[in-house]
Amino acid sequence: MKRSVEDLAIFGGTRTFAEDKHVGRPNLGDRAAFHKKIDEIFDRVWLTNDGPVVRELEARIANITGARHALAVCNATVGLELVAHGLELSGEVVLPAWTFVATAHAMRWVGLTPVFSDVERSTHHLSAELAARRITPRTTAILATHLWGEPCDVDALTALAKKHRLKLIFDAAHAFGVGVGQRPIGTFGDAEVFSFHGTKFVNSFEGGAITTNDDELARRLRLMRNFGFAGFDLVLHLGTNAKMHEASAAMALVNMDAMGVFMTANRVNLETYQQALADVPGVRLRRPSGNGQRNFQYVVAEVDEALTGVSRDDILAVLQAEGVIARRYFYPGAHRMEPYVSEEQPSLPMTEEIAAQVLILPTGTAMSPVDICLVTDLIRFVVAHGPAIAAARGSGAAAHMPPLRLPRS
Ligand SMILES: Cc1ncc(COP(=O)(O)O)c(C=O)c1O
Repeated sequence: MKRSVEDLAIFGGTRTFAEDKHVGRPNLGDRAAFHKKIDEIFDRVWLTNDGPVVRELEARIANITGARHALAVCNATVGLELVAHGLELSGEVVLPAWTFVATAHAMRWVGLTPVFSDVERSTHHLSAELAARRITPRTTAILATHLWGEPCDVDALTALAKKHRLKLIFDAAHAFGVGVGQRPIGTFGDAEVFSFHGTKFVNSFEGGAITTNDDELARRLRLMRNFGFAGFDLVLHLGTNAKMHEASAAMALVNMDAMGVFMTANRVNLETYQQALADVPGVRLRRPSGNGQRNFQYVVAEVDEALTGVSRDDILAVLQAEGVIARRYFYPGAHRMEPYVSEEQPSLPMTEEIAAQVLILPTGTAMSPVDICLVTDLIRFVVAHGPAIAAARGSGAAAHMPPLRLPRS
């Protein structure tokens, strides 16, 4: 418990947590079940190349999402690249600036031009209305992200893509296990791409999956994932190595068995944060909206400095010094990262406002309610002593953002 500003670790006091509390600390399923699967892999001496564990995982993902085809891949970034190739995209792809930079990088990596759109302030999502403003004659696809495990407006985006005859891809890296009403994410657009990276609520160490209801796309993706091979010596397509291996698939299966436990832990954590922060002025937690299943895998706070009297970055610095490794995902916005920031970019006011306010707090199975109360006590303390902390840190200035090269008007 901090009694004075001098007690804060950032000013030399004792840290609240001896061991750092990270955003995205891996959730781990049953260790013995994983070891058993690894033993079986050793017995079979079949490590990769469309092995039985990968096939079992693909069947499980198809079952959970309701998609006709599920392909396990080495990670979501390569999955997005594969989909862009598989759909034979060219020219420009409209995507949100408020997303992890991999969404844009994957398009750029395969020679496409990411065209950044602003996002809706309230949802953090690319909307059809905003996406429509960025469509040009060179646009061939829209790539929207289901951010924070919440679905974006799939119906409006589907209608927009149809109207302009564009392909529609969803970056579903955060959205495994999520649904829109009764319909699971994984069945929208031409394809959806999930991530099972170690930080995701269901992980396969590294990994991802593509789901699609398009038989021809699935056929091509399967070829492309394995260098284009259709037989021992038969190469039918340009390809790469995007395969998931058996140990990753085993990890994913074991973690999927515990998915309900992970979701419940995340939901309880979010409720604990919400209750504890309800009366802290200027610190607002995003609440999952709409109906359908949510995985609650991110606790997303927004800090309004006009109300807290202390900046988001001061709160972040205090928390990190105490061992709470909160994050500013996805600051400063993909359009303000290289290589895009060195090119002409529009000013995207909503993205920039969100980037200046967002604070992601640790959740998952590694966080207990007691841990969360310690974190929220710290936030409450910082807000209560905002001016003194800002003065002691010599801050108060707005967060630095890389300058934009704006188009000439
Ligand atoms: C929105 C988003 N898209 C794509 C990715 C890339 O996923 P991966 O690490 O599996 O390549 C991530 C995170 O890692 C992400 O958060």
